[in-house]
Formats: sequence, C-alpha cells, structure tokens
Amino acid sequence: MTTKKSDKDYSIYFQPPSLTDAKKRGREDIQVHYDFAIPEELQQLGKDKYYLIQTYGCQMNEHDTETIMGLLEQMGYQPTEDRRQADIILLNTCAVRENAEDKVFGELGHLKHLKIEKPSLLLGVCGCMSQEEAVVNRILQKHPFVDMIFGTHNIHRLPHLIKEAIFSKEMVIEVWSKEGDIIENLPKKREGVKAWVNIMYGCDKFCTYCIVPYTRGKERSRRPEDVIAEVRELARQGFKEIMLLGQNVNAYGKDFEDINYRFGDLMDDISKIDIPRIRFTTSHPRDFDDHLIEVLAKKGNLVEQIHLPVQSGSNEILKKMTRKYTREQYLELVGKIRRAIPDVVLTTDIIVGFPGETDEQFEDTIKLVREVEFDSAFTFIYSPREGTPAAAMEDNVPAEVKKQRLYRLNEVLNEYSKRGNDRLLGQTVEVLVDGESKNNPNVLAGRTRTNKLVHFEGPKDLIGKFVNVHITGTQTFYIKGDWVREQAVAQ
Ligand code: SAH
Ligand code: SF4
Ligand code: F3S
Repeated sequence: MTTKKSDKDYSIYFQPPSLTDAKKRGREDIQVHYDFAIPEELQQLGKDKYYLIQTYGCQMNEHDTETIMGLLEQMGYQPTEDRRQADIILLNTCAVRENAEDKVFGELGHLKHLKIEKPSLLLGVCGCMSQEEAVVNRILQKHPFVDMIFGTHNIHRLPHLIKEAIFSKEMVIEVWSKEGDIIENLPKKREGVKAWVNIMYGCDKFCTYCIVPYTRGKERSRRPEDVIAEVRELARQGFKEIMLLGQNVNAYGKDFEDINYRFGDLMDDISKIDIPRIRFTTSHPRDFDDHLIEVLAKKGNLVEQIHLPVQSGSNEILKKMTRKYTREQYLELVGKIRRAIPDVVLTTDIIVGFPGETDEQFEDTIKLVREVEFDSAFTFIYSPREGTPAAAMEDNVPAEVKKQRLYRLNEVLNEYSKRGNDRLLGQTVEVLVDGESKNNPNVLAGRTRTNKLVHFEGPKDLIGKFVNVHITGTQTFYIKGDWVREQAVAQ
C-alpha cells in the first residue's frame, strides 16, 4: 500500500491490500480449520434485519455469495430484494476486466442516495476488487460513505467486521493480501437442485493479462475427504448436479505433500457417489493429464462437456500470455479428448486484441476455432489490469480493430454453435429442468448433459426434475423440443 494515511484516520481494522504482497508466494503450510463457529453474541446482530447482495464475476464469486448469505442468516438476517428494506447491502465484486469494475463504481453512486435516506444502512464492498489497493484508495477518496471493505481471504471474518462496522464511525477495512488458511464448515445457502463445490482456491499460473492470482492468492486444494463428504451430503439432500470449482481444477492436489492424489483421482472417487451429474470448471490445458481423460471417458455421472480455455490460437501471443502451451499442444490435447470421448462438447474462452496482436495472429485464432469446432465460447476484448505484466506491454492495436476482431470471431463461433446444435435434431436428450424460460413463462428451460440450453412446453412441476425432450428445432444459443412424457428417466 503506497498512499496509506495515518492509521488513526481509519478504524483499527484498516488493513489495506497490496498487489505486490499478493504476488509473494510463501512455502508456509496452509492449515485446514474445522472449528468455525459464529460467537453467540454475534448471532443476534441481524435479528429483524434484512440483507441484499449483488454479485458480479465468476462462479467462484457466486459461490462466495452463498457463503456470505449462510453467514448472514446464521446472524439472524433475512434476505430481501428490496433495496429500501435492506439494512445491509454488499457488493461482491469482480476485477477481471475494466467494465466489471465500472459497473460497481456506478452502483456505488446510486447507493449513496439510499445511504443518505437511511443512515443506518450498512454498505459493504467485498470480492476481488477489494483486493486491489487502487480500488480501496478510490473508495476511501470518492465513496467515503461505504461502511466496510473486506477481501476474498477473510469472508469468515464477516460477523466480526459487521459488528465493528455497526459500532465504529470509521470505514472498516480488512483485506488480507496473502491468502489465509482453508476454513471448512462455513455455512452455505444453496437453492435449487444444482450446487457449486469448491475443490481448490487461488491460482498460481500468472497468465500475464490476469488479475486473479493476485486477488485469489496461491493454489490451495481442499482435502479430498472434505470435498467427497460435501458432495455426499449434497447427494443426500437431493441435489442433482454438482459443479466442482477452481480457477485451474487440473492443478488440484499438486500442493499436497503427504499424498499423491490429483484431479483424476478426485473425479474417479466422486463418480462413485450417487448424484446424477458432475461438472467442473475451469480446466487449464497445461495440467490436463491422461489419467483424467481416462476417468472422464467412463462417463456415468461425469458429463461429456469440458470448458477448456485456449485464449489465443497464435503461438507468439500464447507465449506473451505465458499460457505455457502451444497451439499444437492444445490441438493434440483436443484430439486425445475427442478420441476418448467422441461425443464431447468443448467450450472455451478467447481474448482478442492482446497487446501487439497482429492480423495474422488473430487469423491463427480463427483457424484454431475452425479446427476445434467449439460448441460455444466466452470472448473478450483484452482489458489492461493494473499490476499485471501485460499492462506494461506496448499496445498498438486500435480499439476499433479490437472490436472488429471480436465481432468476426463471434460470427465464426456462432456458425459452429448452430452446427453443434443441429447435430441434436431428431434426437431425444435428457434435460434437467431449471425453471421458466426468461422470455416466455409458458416455456420451460433446462440443460442437457452437455450444458446446452433447451426450451420446451410442459407443466411447472417438472422444474428441478430430469425429463426427456425430443429436439425439433435449433437456434444459435438454444434448442427447442417436445417433452417426451411416457419415458421414465433417472430422478
Ligand atoms: N481460471 C480461468 C479463467 C478465469 S477468468 C482460466 O484460466 O481459464 C475468465 C476469463 O476471463 C479468462 O479465461 C480470460 O479469457 C478472461 N480474462 C482474464 N483476464 C482478462 C483481461 N485482462 N482482459 C480480458 N479478458 C480477460
Ligand atoms: Fe487467470 Fe491464467 Fe489463473 Fe486462469 S489460469 S485464473 S487466466 S492466471
Ligand atoms: Fe472476477 Fe475474481 Fe472471478 S476477478 S472472474 S470474481 S476470481
């Protein structure tokens, strides 16, 4: 932290973040704690009060929100969607691209008015943006009405921080630059029939464009017995689909010193649990080993869809990104996966307009997309992130060119999405029903094992269940079909 004023200016909880410290990876052991509990005197703090959380960013953040909700509800708070009713509003933020941050600062502008109308309202900022010193400074200077800022490593401290914020006149800031221990047994509020389960935290890859290794700390794997126990318990509670979460799930277990147990082993063990569908995200191509492919090829509850971010099809750009694989290695991996799992659906993430990306290098990405035939992709224009190596690279690609590249890439991807969907025409697929379609409440929406969105007409009591749907029509982003009533399917 560079612009720290006197500690006295803020509360005793003023612990500012530092991106430089966040980069230092120690050798010290991570402890796992099983004794988490909210002290009794804090359990009544939220009695007759309401909370609202707005979440930005990836599934990791969404899942952190479930933990925060769990903590707040154990403190007596109740959920509300009405901002005026809320006694505490938290913004769980994302720092991955500039537009994610802009949204949060815009939102803080709106919340200021609410705070003026209701001074007792507690406003908090948490998540990945809180881990950035520039963000904390900006909030201190421009949004001093914020009551609390906490980071991604100390969510379990929330009950104490709320107490501090209620009784303190200063902004309460507690952000740990270095990751803490793993805290098991945190309460989680889950809804529906799909559940997220963390298998690891942090990321050690340091791709040159990415802020995540700084905001989420070093790679720490949860113990296999803890992950397995959580999945078993979710199965017992009736959940139908589990999404295993990590920034780089293929690095799972690399940090264990006492056991030789990796992601393939974990998937093998989880495949034996009686839960219909298991997914995982995100895979890094570098650590995707043969044993994992072998395990996934057995299928069962392990679904045939893999999100495998490639980022670029150009070897020069991949090198500048420090992705540590070449396009040839990526294509070889794709070949291996397709041979082992012929009906696999592959999806990806791609960045266009990385500093210095030439037309030819961009064309290499287009060629790779055509070669792999991804079913869908998340595509982004490169966004410089302060403190990352790429932010210091010369960027001579005009914004207009970047936009055109994104447009062209999406056009090509859409072609393959439609083709992938067309392959399902006339087939009957298993769909897990999520709810009503966003645009038409008479239509139900669900997902295939390969995570394709399916729309069909049927009664609302199918929500949360598996049904068979006969596919009759396809669009780029969803497919349509008829519910096949008579067939019994796995429940
Ligand atoms: N851990 C995951 C992804 C995390 S971020 C992985 O490695 O795949 C999700 C996606 O955001 C990344 O895959 C990348 O495509 C994109 N992204 C990350 N940093 C970015 C930046 N600075 N500008 C644009 N896109 C970025
Ligand atoms: Fe970011 Fe790379 Fe880590 Fe993914 S693997 S979170 S892109 S540094
Ligand atoms: Fe965003 Fe943090 Fe996820 S930066 S993408 S919320 S890990």
